[in-house]
Amino acid sequence: VSRVLSTSRALNTHEALLDDLRRAGHQVDVRDGVTPDATTMAELVSPYHALIVGLEPVDAAVIAAAPLLRVVARPGAGYDRVDVAAATEAGVAVTITPGVNKDSVADHTMALLLASVRQISSLATVVAAGGWPRATGMELRGATLGLLGLGAIGRAVAERARGFGLEVIATDPFADRAVAARLQVQLVGLHELMSRSDILSLHAPVTGETRRLVDARFLEQVKPGAVLINTARGELLDEAAVASAVASGRLSAVAVDVLATEPPTSSPLIGLPGVVVTPHIAAYTHQALRRMAEMAVRSVLDVLADRKPHGLVDPAVWSHRRSTGGVRARFGQADT
Ligand SMILES: NC(=O)c1ccc[n+]([C@@H]2O[C@H](COP(=O)([O-])OP(=O)(O)OC[C@H]3O[C@@H](n4cnc5c(N)ncnc54)[C@H](O)[C@@H]3O)[C@@H](O)[C@H]2O)c1
Repeated sequence: VSRVLSTSRALNTHEALLDDLRRAGHQVDVRDGVTPDATTMAELVSPYHALIVGLEPVDAAVIAAAPLLRVVARPGAGYDRVDVAAATEAGVAVTITPGVNKDSVADHTMALLLASVRQISSLATVVAAGGWPRATGMELRGATLGLLGLGAIGRAVAERARGFGLEVIATDPFADRAVAARLQVQLVGLHELMSRSDILSLHAPVTGETRRLVDARFLEQVKPGAVLINTARGELLDEAAVASAVASGRLSAVAVDVLATEPPTSSPLIGLPGVVVTPHIAAYTHQALRRMAEMAVRSVLDVLADRKPHGLVDPAVWSHRRSTGGVRARFGQADT
């Protein structure tokens, strides 16, 4: 019997899917409530063969504390909270559910974009308080939308944006040129993206190059009055620099679904006029949550049955994966 721990809120909304694991003979524990920190995770993981995690950290210490662990499944597209190198080194597979939430996140990106250019959130608040302000917005046709990252979500946003008559440009060092051409997206360098975009939307992962990319220097180069949207990761922004760019009018509006610290403790973006913050719900639709949960459960079932799963972040792990009871295939001996 393998033991599975789910701390993922996304999966725990589809608890019934965990029955597929139980039917396969595995013992499943669910932990709800506050997102565990790295220390709590390290205390929890030792008896488990599989983890299904949300945004809680799985760092090298957590992996070291889990001698039986064979798979970390992330229902979602990001894996920046998982130390994939440490997992791979230990023979632990890390899986994600690529593409399954792209349409939901792209829908939410458009919702934030439209809310920003028509000031929906602040106007609705004033009307609720008895006011009737007639603020003037921006029409989208002919405006330029700049995408940082043209992966699954960036492309889904581009498709939607064309329907609104937006010109779409994108920066992505690894973009597929044929796909960009088919979507009528012009690939440009970062400097051109900053200077031409009326609306800038972030869809890149957090890497050495992109962490806090949108800082004071970056913001000095954006078009005056630009709108900034972030449905990717909070770490892409220097939140203090973005807050002062909104306060000074350099940015006319900001809408984000993600923050550097979640839930936020003291983000300078919260409560600022011109800024809309949603609580990391871009992927939270019934349809996307179900697909994410199904795919995460399937990848756990696969790894525990020694079948290569879809969505392996680093396929290199498969040649030296751990097998039953913490035995490493590479060494053929128990490591616990
Ligand atoms: N808000 C949410 O709930 C939510 C849900 C899903 C995904 N996300 C985030 O959205 C982002 C995109 O997800 P995706 O599914 O499209 O991923 P993806 O891997 O399909 O696409 C990411 C793209 O970013 C590009 N990229 C890498 N480095 C770059 C750089 N320096 N500059 C520009 N582009 C760069 C990659 O080449 C790739 O095309 C990720 O950060 C993910 O964590 C957020």
